Amino acid sequence: MANNRTFTMIKPDAFGAGNSGAILKMIEEAGFKIVAMKATKLSPEMAGKFYEVHSERPFYAALCAYMSSGPILPVILEKDNAVEDFRKLIGATNPADAAEGTIRKIFATSIEANAVHGSDSDENAAIEGNFFFSQFERVL
Ligand code: PPS
Repeated sequence: MANNRTFTMIKPDAFGAGNSGAILKMIEEAGFKIVAMKATKLSPEMAGKFYEVHSERPFYAALCAYMSSGPILPVILEKDNAVEDFRKLIGATNPADAAEGTIRKIFATSIEANAVHGSDSDENAAIEGNFFFSQFERVL
């Protein structure tokens, strides 16, 4: 089935604060199933590759330094309309703009330390999932 997977990372701020379990609970209660998950830490070079699409943006260096500053939890998720529904669940990039009850409103502390990533398209969800997980590390 197309259009049914997305990719997220619990970012260093939320992971370090011990909020991974609470965030995963919200994600599962919203109807998403976990297809792959692991704890890992990005090197600055790997963070640079993951966020290469943003390499011309002014915050690129800070974003890569931040995302390699501590452990993260990459996760592939499954649900109908996954990409769009997950972006709604996490809320706006800047927690100051995020709707009440969203993951970023509850757990993010700044536009940089914004708790979670969410893919912005089906195509990027597949690319980002493949960045972290081999076929043997996921529920097929
Ligand atoms: S999005 O999700 O692509 O629509 O958001 P966007 O605003 O384009 O931001 C892309 C990623 O960059 C992060 N970001 C920042 N990091 C540090 N400082 C500043 N000012 C900043 N602005 C945006 C944002 O959290 C997005 O990261 P991901 O991991 O994709 O959520």
